[in-house]
Amino acid sequence: MTSLLRFEQVDAYYGAAHILHALTLHVNAGERVALIGRNGVGKSTLVNTILGLASLRGGSIRLGEYTLTRPRTYIAAQHGISVVPQGRRIVANLTVQENLRLGAATGRKGHWTQAEVYKLFPILQERADTPGTALSGGQQQMLAVGRALMANPTLLLLDEPSEGLAPVVVDQLAAIFGHVAAQGTALLLIEQNMSLVMRVAERYCAMAKGAVVAEGLVREQGIGELHRHVMV
Ligand SMILES: Nc1ncnc2c1ncn2[C@@H]1O[C@H](COP(=O)(O)OP(=O)(O)OP(=O)(O)O)[C@@H](O)[C@H]1O
Ligand SMILES: [Mg+2]
Repeated sequence: MTSLLRFEQVDAYYGAAHILHALTLHVNAGERVALIGRNGVGKSTLVNTILGLASLRGGSIRLGEYTLTRPRTYIAAQHGISVVPQGRRIVANLTVQENLRLGAATGRKGHWTQAEVYKLFPILQERADTPGTALSGGQQQMLAVGRALMANPTLLLLDEPSEGLAPVVVDQLAAIFGHVAAQGTALLLIEQNMSLVMRVAERYCAMAKGAVVAEGLVREQGIGELHRHVMV
């Protein structure tokens, strides 16, 4: 089977700083994979390398059949990969509706339209004309997810979506991610919240020092085992 995303022995840098070291990882169609690891191990750098924000200097990245030689945000979107970035990055001077349209600009056509996103997150419709950054943290995360879905990805990369959110909001997100996955979209969930990992992911990859050092099935691990990979 062709994976939606395949890193083979990837080396990536910020300037002279060597962050990813021969990192190998894949996500297949419809899979729900968690990427876990302590602060600073390079989880966001993996995302940034796909988007061209960190520089790819060794190994290969494939998006389906396509080999990514010059990573760019729009190229990832064209090949079915959307990102919900760490910290959400809602555009301040755009309304909720305009932020959503931004997501559709570089993506593909499919199930997810503005109407479908509003069905999933009715609060976004209620607040459609509000500046995106005037929303609560939880609502901004919903907007970031909605914006990414507007590109109709086959794989959604979620970079620490639960960061800074109340447990009740994290519960809502877990249900939303389950719903998105049920539509057939694969998920790569970067998380330090192992309760969310256990609810969302089937498989996990654990990173240390810029490489994947352990992987397995979530159901075969206790929460304590998973926590071991994120504890300082
Ligand atoms: N733009 C940058 N320029 C130089 N170094 C960077 C840059 N962004 C991150 N780094 C460094 O790269 C390393 C990996 O950072 P990265 O953000 O990928 O970690 P992370 O696993 O996502 O951590 P966290 O869980 O805190 O989000 C860290 O040492 C960090 O300081
Ligand atoms: Mg990060």
